Amino acid sequence: MIFPSPIHALNWLSSTVDSSQVLAIFSKLFTSDDAFRPDEFDVDAKSGFFPPAPLPKLPDEFAEWEAAFAAAPGILALGEDKSEEALSKRSDGAWWRSNARSWPVKDIDILCGDIRLLQRAHMVLASLLHFYVHSLPPTDSAIIVPKSIAIPLVKVSRELSMAPVLTFADTVLWNWELIDPSLPVRVDNMRYLNIFSGTETERAFYLASAAVELKGVEMLDIFNRFQNLPASSYTDAHVMAQLAKDLGQLASIVNELTQIFQSMRETVDPTDFYWAVRPWWAGATSKGPNHPGWIFEGVPNGDSAHLDLGGASAGQSSVMHALDVFLDIDHRLATKRKPAPSEPNRRADLGFMQRMWRYMPGKHREYLTRLRSVRPVVERAPSLRDSYNAAVRALKTLRDFHIRIVAIYVVTKAGSTPPARFALDEHEGTEGTQKNGPARGTGGSEVSNLLKAGRDATQRALLQE
Ligand code: HEM
Repeated sequence: MIFPSPIHALNWLSSTVDSSQVLAIFSKLFTSDDAFRPDEFDVDAKSGFFPPAPLPKLPDEFAEWEAAFAAAPGILALGEDKSEEALSKRSDGAWWRSNARSWPVKDIDILCGDIRLLQRAHMVLASLLHFYVHSLPPTDSAIIVPKSIAIPLVKVSRELSMAPVLTFADTVLWNWELIDPSLPVRVDNMRYLNIFSGTETERAFYLASAAVELKGVEMLDIFNRFQNLPASSYTDAHVMAQLAKDLGQLASIVNELTQIFQSMRETVDPTDFYWAVRPWWAGATSKGPNHPGWIFEGVPNGDSAHLDLGGASAGQSSVMHALDVFLDIDHRLATKRKPAPSEPNRRADLGFMQRMWRYMPGKHREYLTRLRSVRPVVERAPSLRDSYNAAVRALKTLRDFHIRIVAIYVVTKAGSTPPARFALDEHEGTEGTQKNGPARGTGGSEVSNLLKAGRDATQRALLQE
């Protein structure tokens, strides 16, 4: 059959197939060679930003890294932990660290070209880095990261174009195996490998984050479909009707994300989270600007002034950033929108969200760079406004809830005295415990102000009815 134009084809399609398939078929038929293909950005159709299968172990040449990685949770405790159990681990921990210092500096060339092996190497090395640093006795001096870890980690990170430190990808995206390898990647079929603190709370946090990522795959479908619509279709009633439906669906998905966040209240214990789990994720800058941070031995300019060493945060989840890009949430306050930003909004760390992009794998960052926002289309099509606004409102509700979670899990804990069972020294300043200042997040940002500014930026995306 020959159609005089894509729109004629669309009309014919609409009369013959289920309307939910129209956009997908239309995009496939009429997009050009530079079509948006998520797999080019290491985004899988079924597992999204997760790799489609668990990462393979590193080749035998790297057996020392793999063995130290597997043994670390049983051997090491937080350096600031003075509990009996932690004290009983001290000498084995010192041995583990001296062993790591004695490794030769391994060449990573044989891993280059295989993205899965590079990802595994990043996950293993970044975890070794955090085990090493955070199991040391607390100190006010700079922490020297041995060259056996520092040099290959920096090289692998350059290959992947991401920060040489523990990230969301290392803790959540790459840190699992399948319980039953014959079944697909689903939250109830994933077992997390490295649990720094050994707590169920840490495991539950990773699983909830995984649930967000996998639910997010449904959002990515919507973004990808939109991405492949030619601009000429924006005036077509069928396309607009389907887009309105997709935006409505997006709002429902975001509401489901809020439910996943809510479920964390039952599985993630605030006290364990703050005192036992979070300190392991902290980066070189989390103790504030006066701490000298970390020095990567053998790496030119190997300090936090030159390397991104902020540490791991769910704020690095590419799926959440993709949602922001698609809806065009203006975290930097770069566009004039109403209501005008408050004083605290302006004082917030406006570069935080953009900075988090550097902690994502380079391919995922490229995906975000290529993703277009639906907002300019909605601005010209009043029929889309309600469903767009519904999606924005759903995201604002999610951020409201996230702020409440952070108040319970971080803000009220900051500056408080650790419960006796953690046997931590009060003054030692676990991440965010600065006695006289506001709670700080990964990378040292003031948490409350930052998150409220993000919530208000979301609200500001609403289009006037
Ligand atoms: C117990 C649960 C959680 C706590 C205590 C928590 C805590 C925080 C904190 C303190 C920040 C500020 C920045 C930082 O420190 O890195 C933050 C930001 C962020 N978190 Fe969470 N988080 C939780 C769950 C999650 C989950 C499950 C996700 C999604 C995968 C998520 C996504 C984000 C995002 C995208 C940001 C950036 C700011 C924003 O988008 O509003 N968080 N979180």
